[in-house]
Amino acid sequence: MDFKEEFKKYQECINDKLKQYIKTQSCPEEMLNHSMEYSLMAGGKRLRPILVIATYQMFKEDIEECIPFAVAIEMVHNFSLIHDDLPGIDNDDFRHGKPTNHKQFNEATAILAGDGLLNNAYIVISKALKDSKKEDLPKKIKIFQEFSNAVDRMIIGEFVDTEFEGKAISEEYLEYIHENKTGALLTLCVRMGAILADAPQKDVDILTSYAEKIGLTFQIKDDILSEEGDEKVLGKPVGNDKRLKKCTYVSKYGLSGAKEKLEELTKEAIEQLQTYHDKAEFLVELAKYIKNRNK
Ligand code: IPE
Ligand code: IPE
Ligand code: MG
Ligand code: MG
Repeated sequence: MDFKEEFKKYQECINDKLKQYIKTQSCPEEMLNHSMEYSLMAGGKRLRPILVIATYQMFKEDIEECIPFAVAIEMVHNFSLIHDDLPGIDNDDFRHGKPTNHKQFNEATAILAGDGLLNNAYIVISKALKDSKKEDLPKKIKIFQEFSNAVDRMIIGEFVDTEFEGKAISEEYLEYIHENKTGALLTLCVRMGAILADAPQKDVDILTSYAEKIGLTFQIKDDILSEEGDEKVLGKPVGNDKRLKKCTYVSKYGLSGAKEKLEELTKEAIEQLQTYHDKAEFLVELAKYIKNRNK
């Protein structure tokens, strides 16, 4: 398997699907629609929908069933980024190498574009439930509940992240921030893929454990990149965590400590997948990609 090629194929598939949800009609709220499109199509890596689809494909080939959930999670993710960049939260001017949403449009539009993306995610899911075969409804309702709980945890994580700026923090609280603001959505993605594909409970459990670990490694790497990344490659500011005195793995353990944790957790994540051999090759490579990425 050529990981890069597979990854790109998934990205193209998701971009195509997302485009179908973009509103282009002329209307009084045209600017709001542009603003949602601006962020949604700005060049995100699509990691979350890729996790949904790749996990689903460990058990089933035809991915149509999981597409609405993959689309919805990417909408929620982009909502979280727009709000994360707002002056009242991280106050950042650049993302994906472009002005952040509130810089490109204005603060009111950015707030509402975030709200719009969040709500549109639920519109997409509610349609998937309405169109569902009766026998698939119970698992989709379960997923709907997990989805809304994970979004709630992301919001909680963002709150604690903001509230603890500049304060001393315990190891436990730092993990709490990361597991909630970032880990919850990533874990949800893997669980959605597995549950939708009717994976046996034993597999859902193993994959959840993998996902919880990469949820943490993803944010630890984000912390490292905020310290020593290349702004041009990253497309977002470097040094912003320091400026805001954020509690991160780098502020708590230093760069080398954060890197050690990243190595350790990546290894543990990959170990979870041992029983699957080739079937989990993509997820194994994805864990390495998360550790080694430079954007
Ligand atoms: C950035 O997420 C925010 C975090 C949760 C660390 P990504 O790095 O996945 O964002 P994009 O969509 O690829 O830009
Ligand atoms: C973002 O965390 C997490 C969410 C948006 C939920 P960060 O603030 O650390 O991420 P970046 O560095 O701005 O992408
Ligand atoms: Mg933030
Ligand atoms: Mg931020």
